[in-house]
Amino acid sequence: MNTTVKNILITGSNGQLGRSISRLAVSRPELRITFTDVDELDLTDREAVETAITEGDYDYVVNCAAYTAVDRAETDEVMAARINTEAVGNIARAARAAKVRVIHISTDYVFSGKNHRPYDELDEPYPTSVYGRTKLEGEGMLTSFCPDAVIIRTAWLYSEFGNNFVKTILRKGGEGNPLRVVSDQIGTPTYAGDLAQAILDIIDCSGWTPGVYHFTDEGVASWYDFAIEILRMGGIHDAKIAPCNTKDYPTAATRPPYSVLDKGKIKRIYNVQIPYWKDSLRLCLDRISGQ
Ligand SMILES: NC(=O)c1ccc[n+]([C@@H]2O[C@H](COP(=O)([O-])OP(=O)(O)OC[C@H]3O[C@@H](n4cnc5c(N)ncnc54)[C@H](OP(=O)(O)O)[C@@H]3O)[C@@H](O)[C@H]2O)c1
Repeated sequence: MNTTVKNILITGSNGQLGRSISRLAVSRPELRITFTDVDELDLTDREAVETAITEGDYDYVVNCAAYTAVDRAETDEVMAARINTEAVGNIARAARAAKVRVIHISTDYVFSGKNHRPYDELDEPYPTSVYGRTKLEGEGMLTSFCPDAVIIRTAWLYSEFGNNFVKTILRKGGEGNPLRVVSDQIGTPTYAGDLAQAILDIIDCSGWTPGVYHFTDEGVASWYDFAIEILRMGGIHDAKIAPCNTKDYPTAATRPPYSVLDKGKIKRIYNVQIPYWKDSLRLCLDRISGQ
C-alpha cells in the first residue's frame, strides 16, 4: 500500500458511496480526507466549488454526489441536470485550473441496454432516461473541461447505508407480503464498499491514467436473482416472492434491460481486485445485521 500523504476532497459524502469511503478511511490515517455534502459544499454553486477546490490544496476530488432518484428525474429534469451535469462542469473547471485530479462516478444507465454482451468503455452510449442522459452529459463536462479525470461507470449499488434494494427486500420479505421482482433486467449487484476500495486503489496507484472505466462486482444476475439471494442469505425462508416482467412493473424511467459492464480495463490499468457479487452481499448483510 502507498503511504504517501494525500489530500482528498469527497463530495456527496452522506450517500452510499461517500459513507463507504468514510468507513474505509478510518484505517487510512495517511489520507487527509475532507468529507462534504450539500450542506458544506453545494456543487451547483459554481463560486463555492471554485473556492473550495482552489483553496483546499487537494490532490484529488472524488465526486460521489448525484441526483440518483431515477424515476423522479423524469419530471424534475432541471434539477437532475443541475446536479448531474452542471455541477460536474463546476468541478471540472475548478479542478483543471487548480491541477487537482478528479475521480467522478457515472452509471450503466448511459447505455440503452440492448447489448447481448458486456458493455466496454468503447461502446456507444445511448441513454433512455433523464437520469442516464444527465449523467452522460456530466461525463461530457469532464471530457471537455478536465480531460485528465477518471470517470468510473458503475451499476446497481447497495450498501449498509441509507435506503436501497437490499434493505427494501429484507423489510418487505420479513413483513410476509407477496413480492414481485423483475427478472428480465440483467446486470451486476455491486457493493458500494467494493467501489470505495477500487477508488482508494486508484488513489494508491503510482500511475494516473485518465479516461472512462467500468466497475461493478463480478458476476451476472437479474433483480429477481438478487432478491432471492438477499432473502436466502438473510435467513428469510418463508417470503412469498415471484418473478415478473418489466412491462408488468411500469416505472417512470426506462431502465436498460441488460447492463453488464466489462471490467477488463480497470483491472488491467489499475490492478483492481473485484469480488464476486454474492460474496460481497454476504459481507454487507453481516454488516447490516451488526448495525
Ligand atoms: N445507487 C446506484 O444504484 C447507482 C448506480 C450506478 C451509478 N451510481 C452513481 O454512483 C454515485 C454514488 O451513488 P450513491 O448511491 O452513493 O448516491 P446517493 O446515495 O444518492 O448519494 C448522493 C449524495 O449526493 C448528495 N447531493 C445531491 N445534490 C448535491 C449537491 N448539489 N451538492 C452536493 N451533494 C449533493 C446527496 O444529498 P441528498 O441525499 O440530500 O440529495 C447524497 O448525499 C453517483 O454518481 C450515482 O449516480 C449509483
